[in-house]
Amino acid sequence: MENRPQWGTRAGFILAAVGSAVGLGNIWRFPAVAYENGGGAFFLPYLFALLTAGIPLLILEFTLGHKYKGSAPLSIARLSKKSEWLGWWQLAISFVISTYYAVIIAWAFSYSKFSLSLAWGKEPGDFLFGDFLHLAEKPGQIGGVVPGVFIPLVLVWIVTLGVLFKGVKKGIELANKVMIPTLVVLFLIIVVRALTLDGAAQGLDAFFKPDWSKIASPKVWVAAYGQIFFSLSIGFAIMITYSSYLPKKTDLTNSAFITGFANSGFELLAGIGVFSALGFMAAQQGVPVSEVVSAGVGLAFVVFPQIINEFPAFNEFFGVAFFLCLSLAGLTSLISIVETYIAGVQDKFKVSRNKAVAFGGGISALLSILFATNGGLYFLDAADNFINQFGIVVAGFVEVVLVAWVVKELKNLQAHANSVSDVRLGSWWRICLSIITPIVLGYMMIQNFITNIKENYGGYPTGFVISSGWLVAAGALVVGILFMLFKWDKNALTVPSEQEKEVS
Ligand code: ALA
Repeated sequence: MENRPQWGTRAGFILAAVGSAVGLGNIWRFPAVAYENGGGAFFLPYLFALLTAGIPLLILEFTLGHKYKGSAPLSIARLSKKSEWLGWWQLAISFVISTYYAVIIAWAFSYSKFSLSLAWGKEPGDFLFGDFLHLAEKPGQIGGVVPGVFIPLVLVWIVTLGVLFKGVKKGIELANKVMIPTLVVLFLIIVVRALTLDGAAQGLDAFFKPDWSKIASPKVWVAAYGQIFFSLSIGFAIMITYSSYLPKKTDLTNSAFITGFANSGFELLAGIGVFSALGFMAAQQGVPVSEVVSAGVGLAFVVFPQIINEFPAFNEFFGVAFFLCLSLAGLTSLISIVETYIAGVQDKFKVSRNKAVAFGGGISALLSILFATNGGLYFLDAADNFINQFGIVVAGFVEVVLVAWVVKELKNLQAHANSVSDVRLGSWWRICLSIITPIVLGYMMIQNFITNIKENYGGYPTGFVISSGWLVAAGALVVGILFMLFKWDKNALTVPSEQEKEVS
């Protein structure tokens, strides 16, 4: 029997799963997505997506990892040998994400330091794109490596790979036990402070005011599903890998509910904190909140520095606290993203953990340097958009269709989850995964194709969108299929429960 590492405690596993879910997506993506898609009214599609796709898929992935005790490719190959490519594809998606995700954390590292002297000055936008990123004039130009980004990037990789070298229990579990409580405490301090700023009420009003007219638009539902997938870390191999380290008797359904609600709770907290702060800034400038809202890079690295500039006191402290939160949330997610391919390489090629970390993590670290060049931000933006829309969503769609309709294993997996969980899954779980989720994701895929074919994402030139977007997403699929060609060790595909039967 193989000797698979295990989590020390169930709480350790749940913390790691929450650590993976709570990431950059919660802090800088959710507040703006919610605001743009109907504010308070967005919670309806969001909750629907969480309950019909997010948590059911999380239960499915936890069950796959727990039952088949393998990285995503091994677990999926044990489920159905012909479908192994799906596991490698998901793993390749994670690989791509890790290369740029690390760079955003590197920016957050730098900004934690800049906060000490409010180094961005009065024009944080000019500082970000000029002084810090030295952004190239046109998309597609690589230019040179920017030392100010490269050095913190090296640090990000040292921390991430350092944790992974230490293994599952002494590395990943311990890191999450330290980082997640620190993140929660720091973030609560920021949110409480933001809530007591002048103008916070107007900010919250803008955030929660429901615009019901938007609910009828399919775009809003697509946004809710997209947010749930990225934010819950489902569809890209992570949760299958993490649950493969669980001991035999672990309540899977309950763990999925805790993880799902903890992630959404943090997301809501982020929305409240961000919009209170935006309300404060709008009040300072005497403009409506709608004029100061922004998302992603702009929100975290331009608008937040502006807000910190205007804080009544302890500006530096709140700057450091905010960017440390971003760094911690990002690191715990990055660790889980990289673990997917470390586990996959170890399972397939039977190499030691150290070799897999050095090899997998090393290649990814090298490739990430592309995003630390003058043209890095453009490459990052394109890769992120395409790997989300044509990676995660499509792979998630294939996953549910495969399990529910091709290999028809939902009932067996339900029985497995029920055999170890207190809350028994009913037919609602199978209906969500076999009917509702494929329909919504299928629709979403078609919409995404149409939108991206009609117009170039971000208004970028066609050549750039093809090379840095479409090809990246297609490349992940091709790599997935190629990895299937390597042979497994003898007996590798025997399902663990059957191995045990043979042993006894
Ligand atoms: N789930 C992670 C995030 O939200 C990847 O950033």
